Amino acid sequence: MQDLPTDRDALNALLDFHVEAGVDLALDETPHNRFAEPKAEPVPSRAQAQAPAPKADPARAAPPPRALPKVAASAPDEVASLAREQARHAQSLEELESILAGFEGCALKFSAKNLAFADGNPEGRVMLVGEAPGADEDRIGKPFMGRSGQLLDRMLAAIGLDRSDVYVANIVPWRPPGNRTPTPQEVAICKPFIARQIELASPEFLLCLGGPAAQNLLNVKDGILRTRGRWFAYKTEDGREIRALPTLHPAYLLRQPLQKRLGWRDFTALRRALDGKE
Ligand code: URA
Repeated sequence: MQDLPTDRDALNALLDFHVEAGVDLALDETPHNRFAEPKAEPVPSRAQAQAPAPKADPARAAPPPRALPKVAASAPDEVASLAREQARHAQSLEELESILAGFEGCALKFSAKNLAFADGNPEGRVMLVGEAPGADEDRIGKPFMGRSGQLLDRMLAAIGLDRSDVYVANIVPWRPPGNRTPTPQEVAICKPFIARQIELASPEFLLCLGGPAAQNLLNVKDGILRTRGRWFAYKTEDGREIRALPTLHPAYLLRQPLQKRLGWRDFTALRRALDGKE
């Protein structure tokens, strides 16, 4: 085995690397019955431990209407139905954020540094929904803050929009460890919250960024390369219809720059729709 570094900075960097990668448990030679151990509190990262006092937890201001069972003890269906009940209870986006911040039904909450609820203008005519926060979004606590977000901003600028014109969120508001894809179960648990967020923001247009957002919000099975560029009707629970357009995820466009021409077509279609021409 490779020798461990001995100086403090190198050890801290190694520790940070493991926390970033989602490691939350050290293994040793002795077997342990983890089920018999009391549930450990999530260990804060070094950055969290050194950070100034955290922002007031909005969950404390508005306690959720019903105490949730701990995630480990609950069946996924039960958690999903509690999520629906909690999300429905929110009468404003602020209240929804508070409820979500106090929601303990999704295990991702415990490995994430922050809830990345939304960015931009909730009054905007357009809402964009991506998949899940990455490392930058997790650190900052807002969606689309990293390289994908920068590309997204450039694409918006190309059709005369910026973040003050649009509202941005994700189908899953906590970072999956190591940037893995959220599991279908995690998506199902978080879905009532993003559905309520869309309903409360009530945009005129919904842009689904990437396959997971399009498939989960629009209930389509086809991949994004088939659905992108076609207008769909997104139905809210209270019976409204929002015009929805799936498009390629900016992270995909960073990996496949030649596909940017397709993204460009979709953003142009959105511009035409905003101008009442499509
Ligand atoms: N990718 C997403 O889908 N959402 C983000 O917030 C960042 C990257």
